[in-house]
Amino acid sequence: MKTTPTADQLNRLKATAKAAAGRAYAPYSKFSVGAAILTASGKIYSGCNVENASYGLTNCAERTAIFNAVAAGEKKLKLQCVVVYTPTDMPTAPCGACRQVINEFGPEARILSICRGQGHIASSTHELLPDAFGPANLA
Ligand code: THU
Repeated sequence: MKTTPTADQLNRLKATAKAAAGRAYAPYSKFSVGAAILTASGKIYSGCNVENASYGLTNCAERTAIFNAVAAGEKKLKLQCVVVYTPTDMPTAPCGACRQVINEFGPEARILSICRGQGHIASSTHELLPDAFGPANLA
């Protein structure tokens, strides 16, 4: 599978993730996050973090984007790339829970974290979650 998005796809992913961060519901942390995912079939889905007064029920932007794709009918969802945007000076890599969910659908995915500042983190599922537990363990 081709795992590197084209320049055009990357631009669209970045813009989509940034726009999604603007829809974050983060009244408690005030930390807005947007995510955009590129499927192997070339579709883009987005998500933002959705917090809750019962803090532990918060859903991160990355998981919202993935669940959004599944809920939209992506029966054989395969993630090619995940882009995370935060309106901060430093980029934010996905949390542990999101790494596990990304692995479920994108063990070979590229992961790019960008921010308002100059920095970025270019990574992969393998790098962020080595020796992952996943579907193959249950096969
Ligand atoms: N958050 C995300 O949405 N994605 C991440 O990768 C890290 C954390 C959210 C969860 C919570 O709403 C806020 O950021 C602060 O933790």
